[in-house]
Amino acid sequence: MQLEEQVALIRRALALVEGGGSESGEPSRSPVERYLDPTRFQRELDGVIRRFPLAVCPSASLARPGDSFAIDVAGTPLLLVRGARGELRAFLNACRHRGARLQAPGAASQRAFTCPYHSWTYGLDGALRGRPHEADFPHAPASQCSLAPVPAGEALGFAWVIPRGAHPGEDVQLDLRGYLGRFGEDLRNWGYDGWQPFHQREFANAANWKIPFEGNLETYHFQYAHRNTIAGLFFDNLLMADHDGRHHRIVLPKRSMPMLRQQPESDWRIGPHANIIYCFFPATFILHEGDHANAFTVLPEAVDRSRVLGTTLIPELPQTDRSREYWRKNVESFWGALDEDFALGVSQQSTLAGGARRELLFGRNEWCSARFHADVESLLEPGWPG
Ligand code: FES
Ligand SMILES: [Fe+2]
Repeated sequence: MQLEEQVALIRRALALVEGGGSESGEPSRSPVERYLDPTRFQRELDGVIRRFPLAVCPSASLARPGDSFAIDVAGTPLLLVRGARGELRAFLNACRHRGARLQAPGAASQRAFTCPYHSWTYGLDGALRGRPHEADFPHAPASQCSLAPVPAGEALGFAWVIPRGAHPGEDVQLDLRGYLGRFGEDLRNWGYDGWQPFHQREFANAANWKIPFEGNLETYHFQYAHRNTIAGLFFDNLLMADHDGRHHRIVLPKRSMPMLRQQPESDWRIGPHANIIYCFFPATFILHEGDHANAFTVLPEAVDRSRVLGTTLIPELPQTDRSREYWRKNVESFWGALDEDFALGVSQQSTLAGGARRELLFGRNEWCSARFHADVESLLEPGWPG
């Protein structure tokens, strides 16, 4: 983030701290069908999840040519591959012969992909390089049997994909600078493109994919849900929010921020005195914590189930035990608080499923959640131009 913007945000925060208020919006209601209706869930997959980029893997996990990573996203099997000249590509992880998976979920490294069923072999560029009994396929020339490409790109230390096969003629190289907009630029200014994954975590979450985002778009819960972890660091119910299209940037000033008044503005830096949450629509969250970041993407699996891919990015991997321990403690404290949020999300989903409520309530202080839902709703309307 540029210095002028840091100073402007700090000024905004100090005014709120002095006035004892917070930025806020309109109160609203959220019907429970959003979290329970399987037909609607399918519409969300088509109308939202398969339309926009999701961060699915740290770039550094695919460092060398031939490195690959297979993952299923919202029912679509994906294969991400580092090509011979360092380029990142993504394909559907499905053989063009009869659809067997080329790679089991997870990371691997190889010079070509050989299908375990009948041994069709594909290069790192997805082209079919060979198959036994070639003459038996006069109706399907090798040039038409490349792996199906998937739109993909790299930014902010991650590989991003739109989890679907490319449309005919579509440019499969994602314009992530354009997509991530000025908030992506904020993070790029802090050097994210070169940051390294220190820790990764993947876990099942028994709640609709949208529920974890609600928990990260407000600070109303901090003093209660996080009373034993991070509550003491932050002001009660105070946040500042900016939006760029459907993306959110939420600034959570820390109690240490008013100390900046003792310093000249030219020395002001926001990193040590606030957490900054970036929610890149639809499902990637990056929490900037000054000297490192924690990110997660929520992958929808069913209307009441999702999977979370979490990564801690740091500027460079630790060389000493002391530094390893410093980062380990950071990771532990982050997930300590986040696990409290995820557990409450699971609790919410379980009461919804029992028919306890017809709608949830968002207060003025939870207006960013309402905005997130409004964006999802607008994409489900028939006739959205795609
Ligand atoms: S399904 Fe892959 S070679 Fe037959
Ligand atoms: Fe929380």
